[in-house]
Amino acid sequence: MLPKFSSRAFLAPMAGVSDPALRLQCKQMGAGLVVTEFTNIHSIIAKEKQLKEKMSTIQEFIEYSEQERPLSVQLFGSDLSALEKAAKIVEPYFDIIDYNMGCPAPHITRQMAGGALLQEVNLTQQILRTLVNAVHKPVTLKIRSGVTDASKFLFREISEIAEDEGIQMITFHPRTVSQGYSGTADWNLIKELKEISNIPIVGNGDITTPEDAKTMIDETGCDYVMIGRGAMGNPFLFEQINDYLKTNSYKEYSFKDRLDAFFDYLHLTSQYKIKFVNIESQAMRFTKGMNGGSKLRSKITLSSNIEDLEKIMNNAYTTS
Ligand SMILES: Cc1cc2nc3c(=O)[nH]c(=O)nc-3n(C[C@H](O)[C@H](O)[C@H](O)COP(=O)(O)O)c2cc1C
Repeated sequence: MLPKFSSRAFLAPMAGVSDPALRLQCKQMGAGLVVTEFTNIHSIIAKEKQLKEKMSTIQEFIEYSEQERPLSVQLFGSDLSALEKAAKIVEPYFDIIDYNMGCPAPHITRQMAGGALLQEVNLTQQILRTLVNAVHKPVTLKIRSGVTDASKFLFREISEIAEDEGIQMITFHPRTVSQGYSGTADWNLIKELKEISNIPIVGNGDITTPEDAKTMIDETGCDYVMIGRGAMGNPFLFEQINDYLKTNSYKEYSFKDRLDAFFDYLHLTSQYKIKFVNIESQAMRFTKGMNGGSKLRSKITLSSNIEDLEKIMNNAYTTS
């Protein structure tokens, strides 16, 4: 059974952008579910072997904290026996096992993983069956609508198979794989999926404001919404969506608040092995749209360690 979610707004997995500190921050700001960035099933197996020798567990490889719960771990890769092994390795630590069938990156689709699987109905069925049989935790699926414009309705058959195989929730980003992130997400397809499904549907794509979240829910009937790029450097969005859905109003945050939020994020990073370049990129995102932000960002790119970065951000804070 799926856990109970405290909010209808979820944080999307974003490899290279989200990390355990950002996930925790979004959770603290009201996200109902956070999902780890996708992880290759073969890496999980290889790492677990190494970590076992050091008397350690996979938690050292896929970092998280207890406060993030309920927490979903996202896997990709289509080798059935590796999938079974990897799922069993991660199962004890996570509340939901999510499977990625949406990634459009060529280095993923070339290995018949991510979004490329949408056109492989039989393999998809075997993958989902393997996963559901391998674990006792709920298994969920994240998909795009199809591979190309000509196959943009593949989601219809895939979602039916998913439901038959025991998938408990589907996150739907209604762009095709070949679209990448161009154009717009076709929310009409979310409405269609919700109408043909008997399991919860998470609508995803192009939500950047609380108003967008409400519109998606109202127009498509989706059970939950998932936000990716709109939450970059903007963890407040979860609180704002929760308030807007309840009261039709929400608190606006200033850029100073965003700088404060960056310091909160920075504080959280100290518990994890997050690379400095990733923290630096996060600083860029937290200053997006800020008055004088581009000057500040050119200073940020010159920083080479946390102390430098903190100084630059502190200076921006006192002069803003
Ligand atoms: C930098 C980046 C990394 C992403 N990594 C993942 C990932 O690891 N797993 C996944 O399912 N989707 C991934 N996505 C897709 C997002 O989860 C989401 O489906 C997509 O960005 C659309 O939502 P949005 O319009 O709210 O950003 C990624 C997107 C971006 C921009």
